[in-house]
Amino acid sequence: MLFPPLKKNLRVDAVVVGGGIAGLTSALRLTRAGKRVAVIDQGEVASGESSHSTAHLTEFLDTPYTQLVHDLSMEDARILSEAKRNAIRSIKESSREILLELKIDAEFKSMPAYTYGETDAELDELRTELSSLWDIGMVGYWCDDIPLAGPALGGIELPNQATVHPRKYLLGLVELLERKGCLFFENTRATEVIGGVPSKVVTPGGTILADDVIMATHVPTSNQTFLQTKVAAYRTYAMVLKLWNSPPEALYFDRRDPYHYLRPWGEFWILGGEDHKTGTEEHAASHFLALETFARRNLGVEKVIGQWSGQILEPADGLPYIGHAPGEPHVYLATGFSGCGMTFGTLAGDIISDLIAGETNGAERLLRPNRMGNFHSLACYLSENSDFPKFFVKDRIHDAEVESVDEIACGEGKRVRIDDRVLAVYRDDETKLHAVSAVCPHAGCHVHFNDAEKTWDCPCHGSRFETTGKLLNGPAMENLKRESLARRDPPMTLPLSEAFGNPFVVHFPDPT
Ligand SMILES: Cc1cc2nc3c(=O)[nH]c(=O)nc-3n(C[C@H](O)[C@H](O)[C@H](O)COP(=O)(O)OP(=O)(O)OC[C@H]3O[C@@H](n4cnc5c(N)ncnc54)[C@H](O)[C@@H]3O)c2cc1C
Ligand code: FES
Repeated sequence: MLFPPLKKNLRVDAVVVGGGIAGLTSALRLTRAGKRVAVIDQGEVASGESSHSTAHLTEFLDTPYTQLVHDLSMEDARILSEAKRNAIRSIKESSREILLELKIDAEFKSMPAYTYGETDAELDELRTELSSLWDIGMVGYWCDDIPLAGPALGGIELPNQATVHPRKYLLGLVELLERKGCLFFENTRATEVIGGVPSKVVTPGGTILADDVIMATHVPTSNQTFLQTKVAAYRTYAMVLKLWNSPPEALYFDRRDPYHYLRPWGEFWILGGEDHKTGTEEHAASHFLALETFARRNLGVEKVIGQWSGQILEPADGLPYIGHAPGEPHVYLATGFSGCGMTFGTLAGDIISDLIAGETNGAERLLRPNRMGNFHSLACYLSENSDFPKFFVKDRIHDAEVESVDEIACGEGKRVRIDDRVLAVYRDDETKLHAVSAVCPHAGCHVHFNDAEKTWDCPCHGSRFETTGKLLNGPAMENLKRESLARRDPPMTLPLSEAFGNPFVVHFPDPT
């Protein structure tokens, strides 16, 4: 731990909740504008999803520009591409500042990016996409010879894209901020945010009063229920490889579903992808195997060096939610970055600091959290949200996975019914059992075991917990309750809310 937790009340100009790319970039912009800023984080700063990132920085979005031109307009798609380009430039400039002032090399590196097709249909889609890129003024080329051994038949090259070392970059931002007088408090969870003049952020150790509050928590917090239904949590996987023959230094993206991407890192390569919805896979660890199989078939792997997984949030219409929290003139939020959070998180810092300064930002109108969705986003919204009622009901009908804890092997976690309780039970490598309630404190769904990370993951909105019950990812705000495996006398009657969790915490608002 670098910084102490908050242990007193505080008054600042702006408080940033969350010390990832979005929070730290916002803090930097505000500090540069002369504001007194405090950053709080429920864990350590620079240790959330930003530190798990593979940090390729491109103008590509997860949604094709052709789709954005169709759903929005040519001008709006142009504004978004420009905003992404500016975010890359901004990371480049901050990396340079970090290098010159702090002598920390955040490893910012410019290089081209290729998105390639493996079938005629994919090549046709990419030709259409290139034409959309030209229509909105982007620089890109058609390439018949993608310089990657394997199945690439052709695709688009974008020059001047980049990579950065995410952790070094974030730690550089923290040090820059410290030098500029920004305050940091770690292990300090915001438990309540009350917008007003001033606004209030309540934490267990004290309350912070501020003119403006920036919620950069990656996941919408529980007082943003309207947004929780507009984003879906996915697990994503990454692997560091040594290849027999390195391709030219560039970023490579395929068009498969699930997709794969490759970026260089010194003498190694990082392969990512094989995403799936959080909490819905029986064997999450099989996704590492799928990644390795892809690598061995297509890339010529000398050695697998390491691997990890992380969480991304997919927004209903493919664009992040950045700006004013609806109805709260002094509370701002940034979420739903999909696999582009390093650039969108940087853009969030620009948009939010511009809003606070009363300046206009071209991209702000397109990313407002209360924006209306289109037909395409409504379809995604309905399909992603069907998981909440589906798992809520299904897991109550088949609530236990095993009859007895004796059926749980070392390193395995299963749900077991013990008298009136459904418990999530994990057996560690020393055969010791760890029991917590299987009921997610967010909205009452049952958690599922993730065998890749040894965590309990909720399939409804993506909350995640350690096997001890400690909260890892929201929207839940509390740990899973610790439980005893001892049987107890059943109660005479069971209140409905206890039998079914509390299904009324999350509402299904209008999909707007
Ligand atoms: C494996 C992987 C690969 C990726 N690859 C890329 C890529 O190549 N390019 C790209 O652009 N993006 C990529 N992304 C996405 C990108 O990294 C994320 O979208 C981005 O880092 C999210 O930044 P953030 O600041 O919103 O969240 P985080 O970095 O998670 O920061 C949020 C912080 O908020 C804190 N917090 C949460 N709730 C509270 C609370 N109540 N009180 C106090 N603190 C709180 C958390 O502890 C955390 O530190 C990848 C992500 C993963 C997981
Ligand atoms: S995350 Fe919403 S019910 Fe678990």
